[in-house]
Amino acid sequence: MVGLGDGREVLVARPRDSEALLDQGAFDSRDEYLPYWAELWPSAIALGRAVARRALGGRRVLELGCGLGLPGLAAATGGARVTLTDWAPEAVAAARDNAERNGVEVEAFVCDWRAAEALVARARWDLVLLADVLYEARNVAPLLALLPRLGREVLLADPDRATAAPFLAAAAEHWQVTTRRDARILVHRLHAR
Ligand SMILES: C[S@@+](CC[C@H](N)C(=O)[O-])C[C@H]1O[C@@H](n2cnc3c(N)ncnc32)[C@H](O)[C@@H]1O
Repeated sequence: MVGLGDGREVLVARPRDSEALLDQGAFDSRDEYLPYWAELWPSAIALGRAVARRALGGRRVLELGCGLGLPGLAAATGGARVTLTDWAPEAVAAARDNAERNGVEVEAFVCDWRAAEALVARARWDLVLLADVLYEARNVAPLLALLPRLGREVLLADPDRATAAPFLAAAAEHWQVTTRRDARILVHRLHAR
């Protein structure tokens, strides 16, 4: 159970041993794939809390790189219409299971943010969520290009990784950025200028 800070709790199940999911074959054949989805990262918890502070009833909320899906589930338990996406089919299945555990309906499907035309076609989303997705420098450019095509508001939680500074510097061209700290995590709100 993860507390959202407003009295609500979200049940998040995850694989017991994520290291057992490491697979050299998948790393080699699936674009350096690592099973990061199987951890509940502190950024997801901070973003879940930030989402819980928002009135999102009826809003169309999209999560990219959702992993186990906590922020999106926080939105769904608050009445939002939520779409969860990740490039790892295992993550999408886990996020879907977690939605069921919490008695909420969400849409969940595999989507690589470097080839996200299906999501762009359905823009504008009212809110786009991302937790700890800047862990590799190669993620920065595709996300900078994609996010303005999805909607006018983004919440991105990050543990102040080295890639966050260049991401935010470039993002400032399109977005007005405000940042709130939740313990070690920075939650950035990007709002279209
Ligand atoms: C560090 S994990 C964070 C997971 C979850 N958001 C959290 O904070 O608990 C990064 C996530 O991004 C996903 N991911 C990595 N590259 C991706 C891509 N190109 N398209 C979509 N998802 C991707 C991974 O599968 C993983 O679930």
